[in-house]
Amino acid sequence: AVLAFSSVAMLGVSACGGDSGGDGGAESTKVLKVAFNQNASHPQAVAITELSDKLKEATDGAYELELFPDEQLGSQAETLELVQSGAVDMAIVAGPLLEAFNPDFSVLNLPYVYDSPEHQMSVLNDEEITGELFDSLETSESISVIGAYHGGVRNVYTTSGAVETPEDLAGQKIRIISSDTNVAMVELMGGVGTPMPQGDVYTAIQSGVLNGAENNELIYADLAHAEIAKHYSYTEHLMIPDYFVANPTVLAAFSDDQRKDLEELFAESVDSELASFDEKVAEAKTKAEEAGATFHEADVEAFRKAVEPLHKDKVNNDVTKAIFEKIDAAR
Ligand code: GCU
Repeated sequence: AVLAFSSVAMLGVSACGGDSGGDGGAESTKVLKVAFNQNASHPQAVAITELSDKLKEATDGAYELELFPDEQLGSQAETLELVQSGAVDMAIVAGPLLEAFNPDFSVLNLPYVYDSPEHQMSVLNDEEITGELFDSLETSESISVIGAYHGGVRNVYTTSGAVETPEDLAGQKIRIISSDTNVAMVELMGGVGTPMPQGDVYTAIQSGVLNGAENNELIYADLAHAEIAKHYSYTEHLMIPDYFVANPTVLAAFSDDQRKDLEELFAESVDSELASFDEKVAEAKTKAEEAGATFHEADVEAFRKAVEPLHKDKVNNDVTKAIFEKIDAAR
């Protein structure tokens, strides 16, 4: 947190330098700062960089994006607050974090709710399905949800051995992204969900505070969790969206045309991000195996059955029911 604070302080100092030219002339480019908690080779980082280049061209140099990877500006929860206050323009944050502001977001973060990454993405960025939900945070919370990126398929990994059935998770403390849905999910899967920011997980596993975590192969390999929690089991329980969010005032400064450019180019970047994900997963698996990890199959049906009560619990009002029906219809 100390590091996050100092980088934000530095950001404040350099903010006026963000406009190239600096004389306020028509030629100046507004550089929008994007907070990101993963590394610069992650598919979402690549997508944002491409989006920036295309946005700069489409807006005749009016806008570009500058990515701050590796939690430089803080954990996702911290950067979300910075976006709300306007200290940072944009961020990529995991779906569960938005449940704190509107619990209805939970329906998009349920285990086994999507058949495939393609199904997931067809739902998330369909304005007819998610538009109203996304808009719900704009005025009350100062969060504009521009849209969602695919964030991988999440599986369980532990220090002790393969997790093939819910019984294997008994008593195991598993790190989750903070949300009520995730706590309930891991409990139904047989373990104990422990919310924690991503950057603290390695040390917590190493010191035995955690027995493991649940995440995609990219995090597992890139944050070196594979070195200390050597058993990765394909429970395939979760695909959560990663939202590209912005401060509403930042977007309000866009002209209608510029806003349209941003939306169209974002949609393109969603497709290219998804298209590159599998290759990154394959690379990550090789890297994890080189670090000594073993990949195991799991009894997916047993886990699917175990978490069924969560669907009934979270799809509990008109908004979530309508979204759930549309997710179903898009299969
Ligand atoms: C995924 C997701 C991130 C998230 C991370 C986590 O990698 O893409 O947005 O921060 O999981 O578990 O914290």
